[in-house]
Amino acid sequence: MKKILDLIAEQMRAAFESCRYAADYGKVTLSNRPDLCEYQCNGAMAAAKAYHKKPIDIANDVTAVLKNQAPDMFEAVEAVMPGFINLKLSGEYLAAYLDGMRVADKLGVEENGGGKTIIVDYGGANVAKPLHVGHLRTAIIGECIKRMGNYLGYHMIGDVHLGDWGLQMGLIIEELRDRKPELPYFDETFTGEYPQESPFTISELEQIYPAASARSKEDEAFKARAQEATFKLQNGYAPFRAIWRHIMNVSLADLKKNYGNLNVTFDLWKGESDAQPYIPGLIEDLQKKGLAYESEGALVVDIALPDDPKELPPCIIRKSDGAALYATSDLGTIIERERDYAPSEYIYITDKRQELHFIQVFRVAKKAGYVKPETKMTHMMCGTMNGKDGKPFKTRAGGVMRLENLIREIDEAVYNRIMENRTMDEEEAQKASQIIGLAALKYGDLSNQVSKDYVFDIDRFTSFEGNTGPYILYTIVRIKSILARYEEGLAAACAAGNASAAACAAGNAFAAAAQAQTQDAAVGADTSPAGNMRPAQSDEEKSLMLKLAAYNDVVETAFAEKAPHKLCQFIYELSDAFGSFYNTTMILKEEDEEKKAGYICLIRLVKDVLESCIHLLGFEAPERM
Ligand code: ARG
Repeated sequence: MKKILDLIAEQMRAAFESCRYAADYGKVTLSNRPDLCEYQCNGAMAAAKAYHKKPIDIANDVTAVLKNQAPDMFEAVEAVMPGFINLKLSGEYLAAYLDGMRVADKLGVEENGGGKTIIVDYGGANVAKPLHVGHLRTAIIGECIKRMGNYLGYHMIGDVHLGDWGLQMGLIIEELRDRKPELPYFDETFTGEYPQESPFTISELEQIYPAASARSKEDEAFKARAQEATFKLQNGYAPFRAIWRHIMNVSLADLKKNYGNLNVTFDLWKGESDAQPYIPGLIEDLQKKGLAYESEGALVVDIALPDDPKELPPCIIRKSDGAALYATSDLGTIIERERDYAPSEYIYITDKRQELHFIQVFRVAKKAGYVKPETKMTHMMCGTMNGKDGKPFKTRAGGVMRLENLIREIDEAVYNRIMENRTMDEEEAQKASQIIGLAALKYGDLSNQVSKDYVFDIDRFTSFEGNTGPYILYTIVRIKSILARYEEGLAAACAAGNASAAACAAGNAFAAAAQAQTQDAAVGADTSPAGNMRPAQSDEEKSLMLKLAAYNDVVETAFAEKAPHKLCQFIYELSDAFGSFYNTTMILKEEDEEKKAGYICLIRLVKDVLESCIHLLGFEAPERM
C-alpha cells in the first residue's frame, strides 16, 4: 500500500503544480503541532523566495485548489500565517485506508527489497568462552535487522560468525594436556583413529577455559605453550584439529541452545576458521596488486584517505611472526561470501570498539576489488550495556555476567511481578515470565539508539507501565481479552436468537479467522468480515487511527535507517493511543451493534500491528499476564 504521507503529498504536489509552482514544494510531513492539525506542508514558505510572493498568498492559492481537487480526502485544509498549510484527514478517508491495511498483505507494508541479498553478521560469540552480555546486544539487534529486511522483501542471510580460531583454542588444548595427558591427541606416536566421543562435556569445557585463561596470565611458560598449540592448530596439525572439532561440536550445541532461548537464529553458523583456506591466496593477491608491503617485518595495506579527519593506521594482514590476524580472517570471509552470495550489502554488528577494524577491512576489500564499488558495507556500532553505576554491566560479585544468568534474573523479576498482582497457576506463571522476560530484555535494548550506551535496569525493564516491553505486551493481552469477550457475547446472543443474522455470520467468520490465525502474526492479514472501520467518533479514536496508518512508513524507515528504536517508539505511542481510546470509549458496552463492530475491527487492527511489530523485534506475547 502507498504510504499515507505519500498519498497526501501526491495531492499537495498536484495542487502546487496547478497553481504553477514547482511540484517539489508540495512536501508533506506529520504535524509538529498535533493540537492544530494532523499533517502540514511548509512548501509555501520556501516557494515564496523563488516566486517573489508572500508565503500566505501561495498557501491560499494552493489550499483553494486542494479543496476542490481532493474533496473527500480532507476534513480541513487551512492556510495559516505566515504561510503554513495545515491539514486534517477526513474520517471516512482514514477509515477506508485502515480497511485497506486490514486486508492487505503484511498489513500494507510493501516489499521493496526486490529479493536483494544482504548478509548480516551478528552474534559473534567466541567458541568455548561463555556467552556474555557483551554479545547480547549484537544478537538482539541483528535478529531484528534480519527480520525487518526479510519482511520488506530482502533476502537476508544471518551469519553468527563465531570467533573459533583464536588463542582460546591453544589454551584449552594445553590445559587439557595437563589434565588428561593419557589422551591419544598428546601421544605423538599414536597412529590410529581419534575417538568420536569428546574428551570433555560442556560443563568441563566451561571450567577448562577460564582456568587456562587465568593461568596464562601468571604462567609465561604455559602461555607460550598455548601460543605454540594455537599455531600448530592453525597450520593443520591433525591431533589438535581433532580436539578443535570436539570443542566446536560441544560448544555449538550449547550456543544454539542459548541463542534459541533469546529467539535468535542464524542461517549460517560460519566462523573465522572457515576463512582460513582463503588466506594464502588473499595475501598473495594483495602483494601481486602492489597493495600489501612489508613494514617492520609485518605485511600491511595502506587505507588512509586524504579527507580522513585523523590519520588512520594501515591494515595489518600478517604479523612479523607469520600469523594472520582478525582483519585477514574478515577479508578471507568476504572472499568466500562474494563467491557464495555476492550480496548487495554487508551489515556487521559489533561493539563500537571495533570501529577502526571495520574501516580497515572495508577499505581493503574495496581497494583490492574484492567487493564491487556499489556494494554497501555497513558497520553498526553498538553502545555498551552499562550497570546502574554507568560502567559496563557486571555481576554483583564484579565478574562478567553470563547471559544465562542474566536471563534468569529477568525472568524471576517478571515472575515476582506477576505473582504480586494476581495468582496465575504456577506453570502458566513460569511460562509467561519467560515470554515477558524476553520481551523486557529485548525491548529494553532495542528501544535505545543502537550506538548509544544504556543502563540495564531490571526494575524499569520489567515494569508493566511506561516505555517497556511488558507494557506493549499488556496492551496486546488486553485487546485479546476484549476480542474474546466480544466473541463470547456474540456467540451467546446468536444462540439465544437475540442478534441479527448478519452479525452472527460475521461473528462466526470472525471466530474462524481468529482460529485460523497463524503463529506468524507478521504475515497474517485480517480477512474476517466482522464489521468495517468506521470514521472516528472522538479525538482519541482519530489519534489511534492516525497512528495505525503510519505503520508501513515506520517499518520502512526503521529498516532504512537501521534503527529498531523507531519501531519501539512507534509501538509505544500506538499502545498509548490505544490506552487513551480505551479509557474514553465504552467498547463492549456500546449498544449500537454496528458501532461496536467498528470498534472491534479497529482494536483488532491495533493488535495485529502490535503483534507484527513485536515479531519483527524478536519477541512474542503471552495469552495472559
Ligand atoms: N567474535 C568477535 C567478538 O567477540 C565478533 C565477530 C564479529 N564479526 C566479524 N565478522 N568480525 O568481538
